[in-house]
Amino acid sequence: MKFHQKSPKASINLVVFLDPKGQPLVPEGWPAHLVQRWTGFLSLQEVKLDTPGIHQVYDPELERVYLVSTPKDADPRSLGGKLGKHLKSVSFSTLNFLIPEPSSHLLSKQFEPFLEGFFLGRYQYKGFKVEKKPATTLKEINFLAAAKPKLAGMAQSAFNRAEATNLARDLGNHPGNHFKPTDFKAACEQVATQHELMFEALDETAMAKEGMGCLLGVSRGSEEPAFLNILEYHVSKDAPTLMLVGKGLTFDAGGISLKPAGGMHEMKHDMCGGAAVLGAMQIIAQEKPKVNVVALIPSSENMPDGKAVKPGDVLTAFNGTTVEVQNTDAEGRLILADAISYGVKRFEPVAVVDVATLTGACVVALGHYNSGYQCNQNKLASQIEKAATQTGDPVWRMPHHEVYEKDIEGTLSDLKNVGAREGGMITAGLFLQHFAGKVPWAHIDIAGTAWSAERIPFYPDKGATGTATRLLADLAVNWK
Ligand code: BES
Ligand code: ZN
Ligand code: ZN
Repeated sequence: MKFHQKSPKASINLVVFLDPKGQPLVPEGWPAHLVQRWTGFLSLQEVKLDTPGIHQVYDPELERVYLVSTPKDADPRSLGGKLGKHLKSVSFSTLNFLIPEPSSHLLSKQFEPFLEGFFLGRYQYKGFKVEKKPATTLKEINFLAAAKPKLAGMAQSAFNRAEATNLARDLGNHPGNHFKPTDFKAACEQVATQHELMFEALDETAMAKEGMGCLLGVSRGSEEPAFLNILEYHVSKDAPTLMLVGKGLTFDAGGISLKPAGGMHEMKHDMCGGAAVLGAMQIIAQEKPKVNVVALIPSSENMPDGKAVKPGDVLTAFNGTTVEVQNTDAEGRLILADAISYGVKRFEPVAVVDVATLTGACVVALGHYNSGYQCNQNKLASQIEKAATQTGDPVWRMPHHEVYEKDIEGTLSDLKNVGAREGGMITAGLFLQHFAGKVPWAHIDIAGTAWSAERIPFYPDKGATGTATRLLADLAVNWK
């Protein structure tokens, strides 16, 4: 995608912003008769998209004009998402944004999130149909402005954030047979190489040497080898380290505690936490925050097999904790347990944030709009809330109280991997905290938001949403 800043001149496809009174915001020098005509169209409400805030008019001199109003209380990212979704079905190669003076509220606060929403809204998964729909044709975006604020830079950073989210969406949408732990490792390596991050992957032999019995236990039922992927963004020796961890189950059949058939196919997206962490690392590499960031993505399949871990088996985690596996479908917490405890010991982070499609209980509690999160430190919680508001990846804090600990106390082992059905999200979080120890830690459960969360206009209506990618990146970029 190319971004250009150009001087005003008539162009075929145009996006025009409106001021709070509904008047077109145009730079000086733009032909007055066009402006008057658009105002006229507006008062006639000539053609409206099915979207408050976006009008579409056919102008005899231009091919197509979209009039977008972004009053101060509007959510520009949502408006951009709606326009992006609309333009998916329209084919043209160039789109021109008519940009007002740099002093306007639009430019200082709304333009970048609007464009980010626009690029997020345009997302389409390529898929595997033999007869392909024509690909979207948009190749070039121009900003037509009299004065020249730093539009190309804003556009580039909106584009980068959306591209990383769209990468996370692609990985989530890939079918399990096209995206196995080995492919996840390759995807991590590719991002690392392209963006100059350090990368290493522990294979099963290395994990066995380290004593990662929980991750290896989950992987035992699969023909596919598991990996622990590690990416590092290093800014300086003296900077603190933030650690991100993402669940990377490329397919979760439930193991011996097999899931019911209906809906099982969607468990190809059980790696969306890992995908969000990888996407976030791509943004971090581009935006270069002042904090060091290390990402751990444990990746495995969870399958039933003669060699698979069985209900009642006891596994030993990296930190020596013993865990009775009462339900092999509660596998996410097992692979995260090893990744978190290994990462905390090796990288001594100042904070840990893990992201996972962890529990159906979270979906029951919060549905498909808010991700649920738990946190053992209010400062970190407020940083997460701020990043969530800033990026439009909504979260809601859930209780994290030690009274629930009793639910996961083992009888013949230290812990068991399931508690009661009631409060299932909270006990899963408490299980993970056990492996972070005393480090400030947060756990974001995206089971309800990683897939088909169509209530959010810049998320796709179906399939992987890329949720938490931008949230995690923002957390690192604004780290204090
Ligand atoms: N991957 C699932 C959780 C999930 C559910 C993700 C719905 C996305 C949408 C997880 O591994 C799982 O199966 N959890 C079990 C835990 C239970 C056995 C304690 C669950 O939530 O049912
Ligand atoms: Zn499971
Ligand atoms: Zn799972």
